[in-house]
Amino acid sequence: MIAEVVDGKLVSQKLRTQMAERVDNLRLKEIKPGLAVILVGDNPASQVYVRNKVRACDSIGIQSTVIRLSKDCSESAVLDELMRLNSDPNINGILVQLPLPNHIDDNKVLEIIKPEKDVDGFHKVNVGAMVTGNAQFYPCTPHGVMKLLDHYNIAIEGRHAVVIGRSNIVGKPMALMLLERGATVSICNSKTPDLSVFTRQADIVVAAVGRVNMLNGEMIKSGAAIIDVGINRLKDGSLVGDVDYESARSVAGFVTPVPGGVGPMTITMLLENTIRSAEMTIAS
Ligand code: GUN
Repeated sequence: MIAEVVDGKLVSQKLRTQMAERVDNLRLKEIKPGLAVILVGDNPASQVYVRNKVRACDSIGIQSTVIRLSKDCSESAVLDELMRLNSDPNINGILVQLPLPNHIDDNKVLEIIKPEKDVDGFHKVNVGAMVTGNAQFYPCTPHGVMKLLDHYNIAIEGRHAVVIGRSNIVGKPMALMLLERGATVSICNSKTPDLSVFTRQADIVVAAVGRVNMLNGEMIKSGAAIIDVGINRLKDGSLVGDVDYESARSVAGFVTPVPGGVGPMTITMLLENTIRSAEMTIAS
């Protein structure tokens, strides 16, 4: 079997075209959705991610502002900036690019963001609402994965999904979202002994550990959907995921490439959450 390639770029383009119409409709009501991004320090990967987020906002008419703070700025400087953005009526979404420098407490920072502007879906109010099945904002990467599965009509209910990874950004919310849709979910992580015992049974595997070649064709069931969330940079500068793409492709039913699979969808879901936040200001 040669797997169908799950094209996150193409699905993103389709969704962004629809989103641009929603932004136009908001503009008719004199609302311009606004996203503020806080970037602390000079982590090269974070700088690339933030630049891509800004470009994506520009492309569909969302106003974006990047607030750059030096790597040794105080925690209270970040908190002050967030309080200012919380009360700025032109800002509908606030995002603090992670990771933060070690001297800044992630939880303190994420929890000062108003839940109604938490377009990353990381605030504990939004995480709690996700657990009970009524979240306003879902974290962007797992939200994007769900959209990809739906776009390719990959069944979720009654299927066995294996999530590899236990991060707050991907692994944990991914498992909850699949569970909410009726999958039987196994949550593994980088320390799971004999991972293939789980992955060989899986109809859907989401790999989100950040380790090259963690999953290969011998570890997966014929016809399974393999979703690769990993982004790893090799010594030669190229980007690869967590999955050995070529061997997986000859066994799986669906596989996401890296780059061009989940990555574009993460940003698209950030746009979706920011637009939704702006739309909610009309409803309220
Ligand atoms: N760092 C890596 N992924 C993410 C993300 O989805 N949101 C934020 N804020 N930081 C990240």
